[in-house]
Amino acid sequence: MNPKKIAGEKAVHYVEDGMTVGLGTGSTVYFSIIKLGELVKEGLDIKGVPTSIQTEKLAIDLGIPLVSMSSVDYLDLTIDGADEANHDFELIKGGGGALLREKMVASISEKFIVVIDETKYVTQLGKFPLPVEIVPFSWETTINTIKKLGCTPKIRMNQDASPFVTDNQNYIADCYFEMIDNPAELNQQLNMISGVVENGLFINMADSIVLGKENGEVTIIS
Ligand code: A5P
Repeated sequence: MNPKKIAGEKAVHYVEDGMTVGLGTGSTVYFSIIKLGELVKEGLDIKGVPTSIQTEKLAIDLGIPLVSMSSVDYLDLTIDGADEANHDFELIKGGGGALLREKMVASISEKFIVVIDETKYVTQLGKFPLPVEIVPFSWETTINTIKKLGCTPKIRMNQDASPFVTDNQNYIADCYFEMIDNPAELNQQLNMISGVVENGLFINMADSIVLGKENGEVTIIS
C-alpha cells in the first residue's frame, strides 16, 4: 500500500458540495486531487484554488473548476502535504518550492488538512532543510543574514546548475538547521529579514493531520 495514496484519498472525505477548496502541491496531495477529479465527474460541486502552476494544470486536466484566490474572501478547506509535522501541528513545507502560495491559501482557509506518510510525523522539526523563499536581488546578502540564525543555507539549484525559480520568480534557500528548537520564533525571525519573502514553517495553521501508514492504516490526528 502506498501511504501517500491512502492519506491523500482519505482527506477527500472532508470535502462537501458547495465548498471552495485549496488544492495543495506535491506527491501526496496529488492523490487527493485525482480523487476530487473523479468525484467532480460524478457530480461533486466544488471550486478549487490551486497553490501552484503545477497543481493548476493538474486540476484543469481533471476538469476541477477553479477560481483565483483574489476572488474569494475565505476557503472552506485546504488539503496539502508537508515535509515534516510535529506533535504541535507545526509544519515544514516547501520541498516542492510552492510554500508562498501554499501559506497564503492556508492562511484564509477555515480548515487546513495535512496529508503525510508516517515517516514525516516527528517529535522535533529540522531534519528536513527548511525552505525559505527569497528575492533574487542580492541573494548572497540575504543568505548571509539567514546563516546568523544558526543554519547552513544553500540556494536550490536545478539539474542544469541554474537556480530553481519559484512560481513567483524568486529563489529558494534550503536551510540546514538539523534541529529547530522554537519553530514559532524562527518563523518570525526569518520573515523579518529583508529579502526573505516567506519561509516554510507553518505555525498554528494545521487543524488535522491525516497520516498514511505502510501497513495500509490511516490515522487522523486532530
Ligand atoms: C510543496 O512546496 C510542498 O510544501 C509540499 O506540500 C511538501 O513538500 C510535501 O510534498 P510531498 O507530498 O511530495 O512529499
